[in-house]
Amino acid sequence: MVDRWMGTNQWRTHAAPGHPTRTARTRSKPPRAARLYAVSTPKPLDPPAGTVTPGPWESGSRSGSVGRRDADQQESVQANRSWWDGEADEYYLAHGGFLGDADFVWGPEGLREADARLLGDVSGARALEIGAGAAQCSRWLAGRDARVVASDLSLAMLRQGRELNAGVSDPRLRVPLLQCDGLALPFGAECFDVVFTAYGVVPFVADSAGVMTEASRVLRRGGRLVFSTTHPLRWAMPDDPGEGGLRVTQSYFDRTPYVEQDATGRATYVEHHRTIGDRVREIAAAGLRVLDVVEPEWPEWNTQTWGGWSPLRGQLVPGTAIFVAEKPA
Ligand SMILES: C[S@@+](CC[C@H](N)C(=O)[O-])C[C@H]1O[C@@H](n2cnc3c(N)ncnc32)[C@H](O)[C@@H]1O
Repeated sequence: MVDRWMGTNQWRTHAAPGHPTRTARTRSKPPRAARLYAVSTPKPLDPPAGTVTPGPWESGSRSGSVGRRDADQQESVQANRSWWDGEADEYYLAHGGFLGDADFVWGPEGLREADARLLGDVSGARALEIGAGAAQCSRWLAGRDARVVASDLSLAMLRQGRELNAGVSDPRLRVPLLQCDGLALPFGAECFDVVFTAYGVVPFVADSAGVMTEASRVLRRGGRLVFSTTHPLRWAMPDDPGEGGLRVTQSYFDRTPYVEQDATGRATYVEHHRTIGDRVREIAAAGLRVLDVVEPEWPEWNTQTWGGWSPLRGQLVPGTAIFVAEKPA
C-alpha cells in the first residue's frame, strides 16, 4: 500500500489559513467542489498495459490512479492545461489572499520580490511572465513601471487575471494577458529584458531544457531569466506537510514523472523532476549564465501550510529553489 502522500501533486489544496495579514477576495461565483483523488473504498487500479514502468501506483478511485510513468511533452501539456483550467477558481480561493492581487511572491515561504530584488531594476524594463496564473506578479511589476506581458497556458487561470485586472483602481495594473505555452513564445528574438515565473511552466513540462532555450531566445543580451520551482530535494520526500514529510522515501535521482491518470490511462496531471545539477546544465545549455540559486528560508511570521509546504518542513529543508540567470552581453 502506497503512502497517501507518495504523490507529488503539491498543488492539491489543503486548508490554507492564508497570509496572516490578508484574506482571499470574496468571489461572486461559488467555489468549485474540491477535486477528489481518493474515495472511501479505494480500489487498486491496474495501470494501462505497456505504458507504465514498475513504480508506486497509489490505490485510487474507480476513475483514476496515481504513480510514476513516462509522459512526453504533448501529454504533459494537454494534461496540465486541463488540470489548471479545472483548478483555477480553487487555486485563487485558497492562495489568492497569500499571493496578493498585485504582489510578487516567489513561493510558499512568502519571499517577495520587493525584498529579494532578483529581477534587478524593473523600471522601464520589457518583461515577460510565463506561467503567470492570474498575473499577480506582472501587476506588481506594472506598478513599478515595467512594460509587462503575462502569459499562461490555461485560459481559466488567465480569466482570473482578467477579473483581477477589472478590479484594480490603478489603470497601470491592467496588464496584457496572453494564452501560450511557455515552450512556444509568440515573440521575436531578443525583445525582453526580463523573463520570469513564480512556479509556472518549469515543473509541468517534459522539456524544461526547451523552456530555457525559448526564454533565452526572447531575451536581449544582458537580460535575465528568473524562475522559482519546487526545490529538487523535495522530490525524494513524501508531500506530507507533517512529520511524514520529513522522510526520504524515493530516489532524488529518479526522473520518472509523477502522473495522475484517468481510468483509460489518459494523464490528467503531470509533474516532472530535475536535479539541481540538471537545472544548472539546462540553463547553461541555453546560453545563459547562472548568477544565483536562492533557497528561501521559512520565516517565523509564516504559519500557513500550502500543500506539502509547511512551517515544520520549511524550517528543516528547502521547499523552493529560485534560479537567477543572465544572458551574457
Ligand atoms: C502553480 S501555478 C503558478 C501561477 C502563478 N505564477 C502563481 O504564482 O500563482 C502554475 C501555472 O503554470 C501554468 N503552466 C503549466 N504548464 C504551462 C506551460 N507549458 N506553459 C505555460 N504555462 C503553464 C499553469 O497553467 C499555472 O497557471
